[in-house]
Amino acid sequence: MAEHSAEKIPTVIADKVDIVYRVYGTGAGRGSATAALNRILRPKKAEKAAGVRRVHAVKKVSFVAYKGEAIGLIGTNGSGKSTLLKAVAGLLPVENGKIYTDGQPSLLGVNAALMNDLTGERNVHLGGLAMGMSREQIRERYQEIVDFSGINEKGDFITLPMRTYSSGMAARLRFSIAAAKDHDVLLIDEALATGDRAFQKRSEERIRELRKHAGTVFLVSHNNNSIRDTCERVLWLERGVLRMDGPTEEVLEAYEAFTGGKS
Ligand SMILES: Nc1ncnc2c1ncn2[C@@H]1O[C@H](COP(=O)(O)OP(=O)(O)O)[C@@H](O)[C@H]1O
Ligand SMILES: [Mg+2]
Repeated sequence: MAEHSAEKIPTVIADKVDIVYRVYGTGAGRGSATAALNRILRPKKAEKAAGVRRVHAVKKVSFVAYKGEAIGLIGTNGSGKSTLLKAVAGLLPVENGKIYTDGQPSLLGVNAALMNDLTGERNVHLGGLAMGMSREQIRERYQEIVDFSGINEKGDFITLPMRTYSSGMAARLRFSIAAAKDHDVLLIDEALATGDRAFQKRSEERIRELRKHAGTVFLVSHNNNSIRDTCERVLWLERGVLRMDGPTEEVLEAYEAFTGGKS
């Protein structure tokens, strides 16, 4: 249920956000001096002439997220969910509008760039350091992280290089490292889909904990039940447009009707 405390503290504000990708390399004459001059003088026209395709992935999206909220982000494939999260994380520029964030947003999966040739153990330490944890904190939480990931359930894999892990194991370790720290704003893009049921349950539990520590969690998931279990609010993006923003059940019902119950 939503927190009805008197002071609602905003953590992320998106104000009429447009995000446009540019895909280069389909047109002719890109190398000429006139083309270069045109790019400076008439950027939009030059883009067209050079065959630059614009993909308008997020269109005039506005919302305010508050401390202690877990917000589901849904929409059919290609609707702009990952793009929006990347922009909130500060990894993509916006074309128009503004995104304000309070605190450091962490995007799960991109932030934790793990090294394939290093062992899981080394990656836990490096990942922790990269997130700003001290060596002391990492040592304290190490066993917890490994247990959470379930990497060692079928043998001593944590002391083997990451390249020996299945993609599911790597994703679980990544989530476990990221979840070991309390985040101001945690952005999770389909990271839960990789684990088995037991891992998903542990992850959902951890998301609830993170919220209690006053952070804000955004969760992209194709599993509507994961969203039901963890989020009290849902944003529905469709073709880059925010179609709905409201209580989980209300939005999921409309979404399920839209997709014919299949999601
Ligand atoms: N790097 C990119 N360059 C160009 N277009 C992209 C890029 N990434 C995503 N897109 C396009 O942006 C739109 C939104 O994609 P995305 O945010 O990945 O959607 P979702 O995560 O909801 O599946 C899609 O039309 C997709 O093809
Ligand atoms: Mg995506």
